[in-house]
Amino acid sequence: MLTRLAVSGYRSLRDVRIALGPLNVITCANGSGKSSLYRALRLLSELAQGRAIASLASEGGLASTLWAGPEKISRDMRSGKHPVQGTRRSGPVSLKLGFAAEDFGYAVDLGLPIPSITRFEQDPEVKVESVWTGQLLGRSTVFADRNGPRVRLRDRETGEWRARYSDLPAYDSMMMHCADAVDGFELLQLRERMRNWRFYDDLRTDRDSPARRPQVGTRTPVLASDGSDLGAALQTIVEIGDADTLQDTIADAFDGATLSVGERFEVEMRQAGLLRPLLAAELSDGTLRYLLLAAALLSPRPPELMILNEPEASLHPALLDPLARLLVTASQRCQLIVVSHAPALVEALDRAAETLVIELRKEWGETLTSQAAVPDWTWPAR
Ligand SMILES: Nc1ncnc2c1ncn2[C@@H]1O[C@H](COP(=O)(O)OP(=O)(O)OP(=O)(O)O)[C@@H](O)[C@H]1O
Ligand SMILES: [Mg+2]
Repeated sequence: MLTRLAVSGYRSLRDVRIALGPLNVITCANGSGKSSLYRALRLLSELAQGRAIASLASEGGLASTLWAGPEKISRDMRSGKHPVQGTRRSGPVSLKLGFAAEDFGYAVDLGLPIPSITRFEQDPEVKVESVWTGQLLGRSTVFADRNGPRVRLRDRETGEWRARYSDLPAYDSMMMHCADAVDGFELLQLRERMRNWRFYDDLRTDRDSPARRPQVGTRTPVLASDGSDLGAALQTIVEIGDADTLQDTIADAFDGATLSVGERFEVEMRQAGLLRPLLAAELSDGTLRYLLLAAALLSPRPPELMILNEPEASLHPALLDPLARLLVTASQRCQLIVVSHAPALVEALDRAAETLVIELRKEWGETLTSQAAVPDWTWPAR
């Protein structure tokens, strides 16, 4: 389970640290930084897949994703005595991302490249990275670090440092090259976990959505990110997962309705008062979305962390309570971070279980959180 998340210099997240629990909901007014926080988690996962630099480029490059305000907002700027203006930089341009789990922590610092003869002069570079044991990075807890092209690993038994790489490309994370079963076993474990964080933010429910069509199904323990293999994913839960909980959550949400999966993996729903089951093509957007969320959340192969962006979109308000119950059930099997716009869902979650509600707000352009106790955090130094 992740216990802390830290982001610095990314969009409106000038310096955000969040303590996490098993079930977290992040909420706020429009434009306060929910999507940026979601993207920051995604970037961390992409780093472990070697795709973060390209992903940053697709967002407009480092220049556009970096915090656009001054390095420090002084008290006089906040009180209006001085205009908000840039001051002479005391530190380098940097975008930092990190998290701590119960066992390991990881942090990365991305920056601008050193000018050289290349057409890729805009590519951000990985400047430093660290992996440590426990909650906080420190001299005694760090066991892998990267500074520019050099990577060292510490032998966990003898405590001796050993050079592992001296020419790591600036566009690669050390997770890509130093994680192997012999030398970097812990890095390998951590990398696989980060790669497996599961993100859902564009489950398709439109008329042409593939989830509405019959298809050739194969065993699907993990629903695709667009939900295209819904029938196969539901049938997999029925066969090797928690079929009872699946039927219970459908009955809970739709007044005793039952679900079945047809010959060609088309989803069918039997509802009270109807003579025949309704096919996926006939279901309302909200109903289909609920089925997609059930398939994602009751996956027979739960990840360490699942992140849902605005799951309540297009759901009828009456479905928010059942959705909250479904989320609580799922959070007993994997850690959940839910980004939500809907106060009713946040309240339902708060009522249903121990939920960590994290409210974001914006002040002077920067995102601040409602958490009273900001968790300690140390960034690796350049
Ligand atoms: N480089 C930047 N520096 C500072 N602020 C930025 C930067 N890029 C975007 N922003 C601002 O950050 C804010 C947060 O954006 P984000 O998309 O995360 O909001 P949100 O909470 O998801 O909003 P919504 O509820 O509308 O989806 C926006 O107001 C945006 O204008
Ligand atoms: Mg958003």
